[in-house]
Amino acid sequence: MKVMVIGEGGREHALAWKIARSPLVTRVYCAPGNAGTALLGQNIPLKATNLETLKEFALKEGIDLTVVGPELPLAMGIVDEFQEVGLKVFGPNRKTTELESSKVFAKEVMTTGRIPTAPYKVINTFNEAIEYIEQAEQALVVKADGLAGGKGVIVCSSKAEAIAAAKSLMVDKIFADAGNRLVIEERLWGEEVSFLCLTDGEDILPLATSQDHKQIFDGDQGPNTGGMGAYSPAPVVTPAMFDRIVEEIAEPTIKTMAQLGRSYQGVLYIGLMIDQEGPKVLEYNARFGDPETQPLMLRLESDLVPLLKATITGQLKDCQIHWKPQASVCVVMAAQGYPGPYEKGKEITGIETAEALEDIEIFHAGTITKEGKIFTNGGRVLGVTSLGGDIAQAIERAYEGVKKIFWDGAYYRADIGQKALNRAYR
Ligand SMILES: Nc1ncnc2c1ncn2[C@@H]1O[C@H](COP(=O)(O)OP(=O)(O)O)[C@@H](O)[C@H]1O
Ligand SMILES: [Mg+2]
Repeated sequence: MKVMVIGEGGREHALAWKIARSPLVTRVYCAPGNAGTALLGQNIPLKATNLETLKEFALKEGIDLTVVGPELPLAMGIVDEFQEVGLKVFGPNRKTTELESSKVFAKEVMTTGRIPTAPYKVINTFNEAIEYIEQAEQALVVKADGLAGGKGVIVCSSKAEAIAAAKSLMVDKIFADAGNRLVIEERLWGEEVSFLCLTDGEDILPLATSQDHKQIFDGDQGPNTGGMGAYSPAPVVTPAMFDRIVEEIAEPTIKTMAQLGRSYQGVLYIGLMIDQEGPKVLEYNARFGDPETQPLMLRLESDLVPLLKATITGQLKDCQIHWKPQASVCVVMAAQGYPGPYEKGKEITGIETAEALEDIEIFHAGTITKEGKIFTNGGRVLGVTSLGGDIAQAIERAYEGVKKIFWDGAYYRADIGQKALNRAYR
C-alpha cells in the first residue's frame, strides 16, 4: 500500500512514523511534510490546502490511502474531493467537519444530543453580546464561531474583558468572518483532558486518554499555544470516568451526527473539562490532536493502518486496539517568542544523540533540511517523545532527550506531565 499523510506538523510525523511501521505499507508520502517525515518516506512539496493538486498527485501516483492531519483541508472539503474520484481518504467530509469548524453547530449538536457542556448563547450582533454579557452572573468564555487557528477563544475574568473580546471578534473582525457569530458560554473550572476515538459513523473505538499543555509557560501561565506537550494515559480519567465519557458524550455525539445526516467517519477529538459533576465538552475537533498524537502513536501496539481502513469501510465493530502498558510524554521544543513572532532558520544539533537514547522518538514539526543540516522552520519545532514504566520515568526520559538538543533560542516547558504526577501520587 502507498499511504499519503497530509500536513507538516509533529502530529503528521508521528502518524507517518506509525504508518511506516505497518507491514501493509510499502511507501509513505507526506505533503508537504518536514525534515523528520523526509527520513521516513518522500516529501511532496504541496501545501495541505492545495486540494486540486493533491488530488491529481494521489491519482497519478496511485495512492491507496490518504490521511488528513490538519483541520483546514478537512473544512475545505478535501475528503469530498478525493471521494468523488474514488480515492480512499481518512477524515470526515466538509459538512461533518463543521463539528469543529463551527462552534455554533457543535453547541447545537450537544443540545440535540443532551450532551453535557457549559450553558451558552449564540450571539449574532455586537449589541446582543453586550446585552448578554451585562446580565451574566458567571465568568464567561467568548468564542468565535469559525476556525481561527486556535486563537478565537478568550477565557474572561471580567465583563469588561468579555466585551473587549466580543468587540475584537465582531467589530474589529480580527479573524474576519470567523467572528460573524459568537458562542458565549459559562466558564468551567476543572481539569482538561483530550478524548479521541475512531468512528465509522456507527461504532466507536476509543483511543487511550491523553492531556495537552496549552499555555506557553510553566504552571499553565501565559497565552495559549498549539500545545507545548502532552502525555498519555491521563490518570484523571479513571475507568469509571472513561465509561461515562463514552456513554454520555462520545456515543450520543456520533448518534446525533448520524441523525442530522452527517455520519462521522474519521477520528473525533473531544476536548473535555472534568469537574465535580463529571465530564463536559469544551469543543470537538475533527482530526488527531497535536501534540497528543505523538505520545499516542508511541504507545499504540496495534497496526494503525487496518484501523484507519476499517474506519473508512464501516468495519470498526470488528476491531480491537491494543496499547503498550507504558506511559508516554512528549515535550515540545519551540522557537523563542512563540506563540508571538519568532525567528526561523536556526541550525539544530543533537537530534541524533537524543534519538540514540532508549525509548525516545523525536517527532519533527517546524524543521527543514538544507545541505544535510536541520534548521528551525516554525514556532513549534520538535516533540521529544518518550516511553517509560510510569509517567515519572517517561518525564525523566523525555527531558534527558531535550537536554541533548540545541539551537539558538530553543524554549520548552519544564513541567510537562507534572499534573499527572500530582494525581498519581495523591
Ligand atoms: N467553557 C470554558 N471554560 C473554561 N475554559 C474554557 C472553556 N472553553 C474553552 N476554554 C479554554 O480555552 C481553550 C480553547 O478553547 P476551545 O473551545 O478548545 O477552542 P479552540 O481550541 O478552537 O481554540 C480550551 O482548551 C480551554 O482551556
Ligand atoms: Mg481546543
